[in-house]
Amino acid sequence: MNLMNIKPLKKFKPVKDRIHYGGAVITNKEISALLATINENGGFNWTVGKKGSEFEKALAKYTGHKHVIFTNSGSSGLLLSLLALDLPKNSLVVLPATTFPTAFSSVIYAGYKPLVVDSKVETFNIDEKELEKAFRKHPNIKAVIAVNIAGNIPNLVAIRKLTKKYESKLILDNCDGFGGVYDNKPVESLADIAVTSFHAAHIITTGEGGAVFTSDGVIANRARQYRDWGREDGDDAPTQLAGLPSDYPRRYSYPVLGFNLKPLELQAAVGLVQLKKLEIFKKIRTNNFKELHRIFSKYPNLFKPVRAEEKSEPCWFSFPIFIHGVPKSDLVNYFAKNNIETRPIFAGNILSHPIGNKAKSLGTCPNSSKVLRNGLFIGLSPRTTPDMIKFIEKTVDNFAQKQ
Ligand SMILES: Cc1ncc(COP(=O)(O)O)c(C=O)c1O
Repeated sequence: MNLMNIKPLKKFKPVKDRIHYGGAVITNKEISALLATINENGGFNWTVGKKGSEFEKALAKYTGHKHVIFTNSGSSGLLLSLLALDLPKNSLVVLPATTFPTAFSSVIYAGYKPLVVDSKVETFNIDEKELEKAFRKHPNIKAVIAVNIAGNIPNLVAIRKLTKKYESKLILDNCDGFGGVYDNKPVESLADIAVTSFHAAHIITTGEGGAVFTSDGVIANRARQYRDWGREDGDDAPTQLAGLPSDYPRRYSYPVLGFNLKPLELQAAVGLVQLKKLEIFKKIRTNNFKELHRIFSKYPNLFKPVRAEEKSEPCWFSFPIFIHGVPKSDLVNYFAKNNIETRPIFAGNILSHPIGNKAKSLGTCPNSSKVLRNGLFIGLSPRTTPDMIKFIEKTVDNFAQKQ
């Protein structure tokens, strides 16, 4: 399997070499694409252009959505999605307490009110029963952000049923899980708007980067306007906007209060190469997930790996675990001594952070507090080799025997 030349630079030395939770997997192909892109335009223009459009088209084809907007990060994609919905000021937008902070802050920056609901300990994802309670209490909820934690896919069947019933929009924060499949369809296709991240630790990478996926042309157009300085369009066609001379170019006409959240053309060049490797990346991540699941499942009195929802085939970003037999810090410290990186489950419970006081919530979200206290993840990226997995197994066995 020489598709990627993912050979470790040198033989893995347990304890001495760090087992990272993630990191870009690139080869000469990406480096050649970068150099060719610089040479193609003589270093004259770095801004996203022809390759950006090519990458967006390839992403649209992959997910089945009609429109894709390539951005400089997943966080930017979340903000653009919310702005592009163009909801009335202070509209209620629901999201889980176990979240990434920018899913939460984007709601506020877009001018809406975040309503936080609890997550499920067994999946770390939004609890659809809590979501239903939120809709019953606030039938005017305008949008739901379902966050795909660590690549695990929320119960989108139940969530979609609710968003349809209450005529609310569904945004999927799929920053962690590009490549995931639900009910035999690319997971993005189940949401009104999906967002992914191409950060170096994510499934495919452009260094930093992200994308917004939608089949709604109005939403797509608005998201692109917000991304591109607020301009009407990127060409010199005459504006349609009232108040400007009729020959004024759309490129310099501003219907929305925009930002500059564009990526570089170089990032698109890398993305095009990475996208070709998606299936092989997914295969390696799936195999590593299965191995880690087997290892941690040997000690049910200590660890509970998360489960996937029925009909879902996640593309795992990392291996999330719930620790219940011992304090989490015991495992974190033992892994640290053995040079195995761990990470908390992002915010755990956003309500516990200083920014959480900006939220309305349905109760205190006790399950998310358990995720905060007892949840962690370790890596399973293609950088995690079979030798490393063997060493993780030995470390887990030794840790369990000490308890
Ligand atoms: C669930 C989730 N949402 C959003 C983001 C933000 O993505 P980015 O780092 O590209 O801004 C991340 C980042 O890791 C994430 O894990």
